[in-house]
Amino acid sequence: MFFAVDHPCIKAKMTVLRDKNTSPKEFRERAEEITCFLAYEALKNLHLSEVPVETPLERTMGAVEENDLVVVPVLRAGIGMLGGIQSLIPTVKVGFIGLQRDHSTKHPVKYYLNLPRPSEDAFAIVIDPMLATGGSLSAAVSAVKECGYRHIVVLTIVSAPEGVAVMERDHPDVKIYSAALDRELNADKYILPGLGDAGDRLFGTL
Ligand code: PRP
Ligand code: URA
Repeated sequence: MFFAVDHPCIKAKMTVLRDKNTSPKEFRERAEEITCFLAYEALKNLHLSEVPVETPLERTMGAVEENDLVVVPVLRAGIGMLGGIQSLIPTVKVGFIGLQRDHSTKHPVKYYLNLPRPSEDAFAIVIDPMLATGGSLSAAVSAVKECGYRHIVVLTIVSAPEGVAVMERDHPDVKIYSAALDRELNADKYILPGLGDAGDRLFGTL
């Protein structure tokens, strides 16, 4: 199921990301901030465990996240969203999956996988700024499932209708939260209007 996270602050930050003149530094900062908003929305129904806490005045009850939370950035560009999740959930574990679209076929090629062994209540947050054809994210979620994760959510910054359809076909159990649903893909399978190549813009490799 796909959710476009609609908020005036996200729209303003998205405008900065889309602008071709935005520097890699500002691009990274706005991408992390948008990711915080997405995670805030995606995780609002997380289960909590009650824990006692001593204030300077008395003992009261507080809460900690109950699930074993694991964030999985899809390399490279997913790294650009990682800081946003870590600032919201400082205890989050991090696993990595490396996928790169083959420039001629547009199909993803997996080159790295390193995920923590999931506990029974593990909850994986897969992050990748771009959902274009859906090939990369579908393969990433399949790999996370194969590793044993049963609860998975996906966060993206820009999604294309084609990619959303692929994810809903391949992973109907997985919710996708995105800052924008764009119009379409071009002949090179880039998202329109999009923001260009997210990895290149994040890491200054244009
Ligand atoms: C980008 C992006 C996604 C993928 C989306 O990565 O970060 O992983 O393309 O395209 P898809 O939905 O059509 O699969 P890319 O392959 O450019 O690798 P990079 O992150 O290393 O730049
Ligand atoms: N990957 C990107 O980085 N951008 C797109 O528009 C599509 C795939």
